Amino acid sequence: MKKKITKAIFPVAGLGTRFLPATKSIPKEIMTLVDRPLIQYAIDEARAAGIKEFIFVTSRGKSALEDYFDHSPELENTLRKKGNLDMLEELKSTNMDSGAIAYIRQHKALGLGHAVWCARRLVGNEPFAVILPDDVIAAEKPCLQQMVEAHAETGGCMVAAMEVPQEKASAYGVLDIKEDMGRLVSVKGMVEKPSADTAPSNLAVIGRYILTPKVMQNLNRIKSGSGGEIQLTDAIAEEIAQGRDVFGYRFRGQRFDCGSKAGFLQATVAFGLAREELRDELGEYLSKLMSMRHAAQ
Ligand code: UTP
Repeated sequence: MKKKITKAIFPVAGLGTRFLPATKSIPKEIMTLVDRPLIQYAIDEARAAGIKEFIFVTSRGKSALEDYFDHSPELENTLRKKGNLDMLEELKSTNMDSGAIAYIRQHKALGLGHAVWCARRLVGNEPFAVILPDDVIAAEKPCLQQMVEAHAETGGCMVAAMEVPQEKASAYGVLDIKEDMGRLVSVKGMVEKPSADTAPSNLAVIGRYILTPKVMQNLNRIKSGSGGEIQLTDAIAEEIAQGRDVFGYRFRGQRFDCGSKAGFLQATVAFGLAREELRDELGEYLSKLMSMRHAAQ
């Protein structure tokens, strides 16, 4: 029987330079879409997929992130006294069980592959998930859950994949497809940030992975790759070179790149419009804004 995926790594040690100056003191993952920090969406998605152990790879200046997962007795008492029970429940749903969460430091931002490798001892010898919290995915069935279900059939390594315009491929890891089976593709190569004319396809990897412990061993050997960083893509591509299975999974849902300003703003609007209590007011405001823009043009 295949081993259940119960551990997830959340690499949150990046510098977040695209959001400076805000990220001088606020970790990117604490920035909020409506009223929930990015990291909360990632945790909710992991829980829905059956994850029980949450491993954060953090760095200097991320203590707000650790505090966020602590219980908050004063707030809970105040809400209880005020009889605000809905909010109390909401707040409690963000609490993490003792021992479910582990933090490990990446001392230098040497790349995503290096961040994942920092968690090797906590992962041990079992398959694990990796979630990048700045990729937020709105989906009826959470993306990682879709992948865990597919992975139960396939085994091997699996990456979330999404079609992107050819000219944008150079911003992603890109899959070289062996066989396209629709939702699932088997992969014969992966390239990190290829130039638009050398990209092997327009199927890009986004921030959800299910990986085997072998990938950690590959990371042990890998020195720096594209951009001087230790790339996770290279360690997964090494699996293919060793003759083991790697799959791309075309998830159902909409992905927002909340690591970029435009993506973050789009997500804010989309998640705002998805809230019943905000929909009308925000929708009206947006229509008014658009008609004023048209009139001015
Ligand atoms: P990004 O490429 O978005 O980098 O990392 P970044 O530092 O967060 O942001 P910018 O580009 O400077 O604005 C993708 C994910 O990998 C993590 C980040 O925290 C993010 O979740 N990461 C990246 C690390 O944990 N360590 C690293 O050395 C690099």
